[in-house]
Amino acid sequence: MHYPILFACLLVVALASPTPLDSAVAPLVHIRNDHPLIFFHGRWDTAPETWWSGSGFKINVQDLSSLILNLGPNTTVPVVALGVSVDYQPFFSLNASASANVIPLALPHKRPGATTVVRINAEMYFNSQMNLESIDLNAGAKLVPYKPSKIAFEFIGDSFSTGYTTPDGILNAWDFLIGETFKAEETVVAQPGATLVDEFSFGNVHGMSFQFFQTEDTSYFYDPIHNFTTPWDFRRDVPERTHIVVHIGANDASQSVDQAVHTLTFWPQFEKLYPHQPFFLFTPWGWPNPDGPNAFYYEGAYEEVLAARQSLGDNNMFLVNTTGWVTYADVFPDNLHPSVEGHAKIAGLFQQWLEDWGLHPLKEWSNP
Ligand SMILES: *[C@@H]1O[C@H](CO)[C@@H](O)[C@H](O)[C@H]1NC(C)=O
Ligand SMILES: *[C@@H]1O[C@H](CO)[C@@H](O)[C@H](O)[C@H]1NC(C)=O
Ligand SMILES: *[C@@H]1O[C@H](CO)[C@@H](O)[C@H](O)[C@H]1NC(C)=O
Ligand SMILES: *[C@@H]1O[C@H](CO)[C@@H](O)[C@H](O)[C@H]1NC(C)=O
Repeated sequence: MHYPILFACLLVVALASPTPLDSAVAPLVHIRNDHPLIFFHGRWDTAPETWWSGSGFKINVQDLSSLILNLGPNTTVPVVALGVSVDYQPFFSLNASASANVIPLALPHKRPGATTVVRINAEMYFNSQMNLESIDLNAGAKLVPYKPSKIAFEFIGDSFSTGYTTPDGILNAWDFLIGETFKAEETVVAQPGATLVDEFSFGNVHGMSFQFFQTEDTSYFYDPIHNFTTPWDFRRDVPERTHIVVHIGANDASQSVDQAVHTLTFWPQFEKLYPHQPFFLFTPWGWPNPDGPNAFYYEGAYEEVLAARQSLGDNNMFLVNTTGWVTYADVFPDNLHPSVEGHAKIAGLFQQWLEDWGLHPLKEWSNP
């Protein structure tokens, strides 16, 4: 009972008579969310808050020693799971909430003037709204430009591309791992349960042929304070995408979408958005069985999509034949979706595929 009163008294004393220590503390460097040197990636609305797996920001900071992430009221309640990487070390997860969140940096000793890259993104495929209000850096820290990588992947898909059922979501997913391995920028526009055609599927009120063009993922429909979508302004996709990877169709098959309809949706719209980027189309790896071969769907459909593109003179689409990439051992224990180890295996196989195709991991990150 008496504690609040005692605390209030102490506070008054502290405010009334600043000690030499208090006056020596220089103010933190306050970075507002509209600072031009924050490199935003993925999809953010006007709050600004993140949508879709893996959306976030990157900053490059001179003389960094501490970082407080101030999140606003549109952040997922009670917490949003974030992935954090400092100086390109492996990402770790932490839960943040609508308040001041101290980000543990564990920085080695650095010479004065040295820079540190901090990357922070929302990691889950639902309940993944990080509402960035501001960032407080230690006194003396200074934002410097973040230089994006020369490789910028755009991954489009469903649960398979989000790390669905793994503990750290996108941080575990094969596509995010590819981004790390190639020292690339990557954006993932993927939603568990979503079809390619625009119809209701496993809780998604729209399919990707609609939702891909929106800022919000389909979880907007379950968000009491943001139950609407806004068209995505593709001019915000900076830098320009260099490679497009699409792995979708499992949910269309589950909803019995006609194969011909499936193959005809989407590609014309893409053609306009990505007229010259190489386009990698995954064939299904199939549903693994405890005994017996994987169950495949839309057999031949992806070959048809490719043939149709080629007949129009487009030689920039490539089929990634994933037959045999995923076995029952790779989806255990969920039995449908790849495990952490399964995702790492897929990433390794796709890396090999890309290298055979002619794309190699960069030797250095873009901000040494
Ligand atoms: C942020 O939350 C408020 C309610 O707290 C809501 O009115 C507003 O639309 C939200 N903003 C966005 C961009 O979602
Ligand atoms: C974040 O919170 C969830 C429960 O909401 C918990 O399961 C998870 O382990 C927490 N993650 C971390 C990194 O603390
Ligand atoms: C969002 O709006 C739709 C109607 O447009 C409604 O059916 C749905 O229940 C709403 N969701 C929430 C969380 O209120
Ligand atoms: C994909 O690979 C499997 C196994 O190697 C092979 O049987 C199949 O013909 C390939 N499909 C295409 C379209 O190349």
